[in-house]
Amino acid sequence: MRISFYLYVRYGRHMRVFVTGGTGAVGSHAVPALIRAGHSVTALARYPEKAATLRGQGATPVRVSLFDRAALAREFAGHDAVVNLATALPSMAQFLRAKAWRANDRIRTEGSATVVDAALDAGVGCMLQESVSMVYPDRGAEWIDETVPPDPFPIARGNLAAEASANRFTEAGGVGVVLRFGWFYGPGATHSEQLLALARRHIGTAIGPPDSYTPTIHMADAGEAVVHALDVNAGTVNIVDDDPLTTRDFADALEAAAGTRAWLRVPGRAALLFGDRLTSLTRSLRVSNARFRDATGWAPRYPSAREGWAATATALRR
Ligand SMILES: NC(=O)c1ccc[n+]([C@@H]2O[C@H](COP(=O)([O-])OP(=O)(O)OC[C@H]3O[C@@H](n4cnc5c(N)ncnc54)[C@H](OP(=O)(O)O)[C@@H]3O)[C@@H](O)[C@H]2O)c1
Repeated sequence: MRISFYLYVRYGRHMRVFVTGGTGAVGSHAVPALIRAGHSVTALARYPEKAATLRGQGATPVRVSLFDRAALAREFAGHDAVVNLATALPSMAQFLRAKAWRANDRIRTEGSATVVDAALDAGVGCMLQESVSMVYPDRGAEWIDETVPPDPFPIARGNLAAEASANRFTEAGGVGVVLRFGWFYGPGATHSEQLLALARRHIGTAIGPPDSYTPTIHMADAGEAVVHALDVNAGTVNIVDDDPLTTRDFADALEAAAGTRAWLRVPGRAALLFGDRLTSLTRSLRVSNARFRDATGWAPRYPSAREGWAATATALRR
């Protein structure tokens, strides 16, 4: 009784939350964070071992297709919110291949639309949709908030379609919230572990001009942010850390965390030669989290990638 009263005071009302993508890198932080906040969590699991992990976290796994509206609506029934974190982002090695984005495009277009239709069918009141802050235009050193319109490029199509689905949920009377996350990093993110391993071999990573900004978010902070996002009004919020670093400072932070100095930093300005295929990483995006912080009281544990990379390296050494 006292525990549930504490949870109510600390986090607000108890909610029944359905999570897709709960077995992924961000989901594996979001699901435990939701449970710690006192919510009941049901999560989509495609494989038995992932279902076992979810059960171990205190969630209820269900096997259902992301593309089956009727089956999803049956599973969503009785939930207060749906959190759609399902993605299929290509690995770093595949990032430049247009074909490697197809699965992700399907999840973000067809999948997100189906999730929204099913949530409406099931009478769910709130829907959170994962997106990325790389959809903003390059603004140099200027801060970017949610009033800046997106500047589409080919691999952002899926994200913008997912955002449109969340907005359609709002137009139909629900609370649809788009979560524009920064560039994820942290233990459990494959590309983070690869970048640290490269840094230990004195190969630094600096994508694009040294003075362009990268919006980042440690995955533990992203997971906590999902809990707080259940309380915001319909619309779009940026979920990034407080202090986006320039490409140069980001590379310094990564190397400091790895305990090395790079002999070379790649690909540098050469990344610009890949044009739209690397736009998401070469644009200068000094993205602000002010709207989300003001609306929720959420604050990142890692204010910038300096603290976040140091903690990631320590966690991985353990
Ligand atoms: N935005 C960035 O910052 C960026 C850039 C490059 C790479 N990355 C990488 O992307 C990852 C980001 O974390 P994330 O949590 O967004 O992605 P993730 O770890 O790949 O997780 C994706 C989630 O979506 C689920 N999923 C995939 N296909 C599905 C389908 N057809 N139906 C239902 N569910 C499906 C996965 O389920 P299963 O567990 O069953 O597979 C998983 O739960 C990190 O590992 C990072 O290294 C991120």
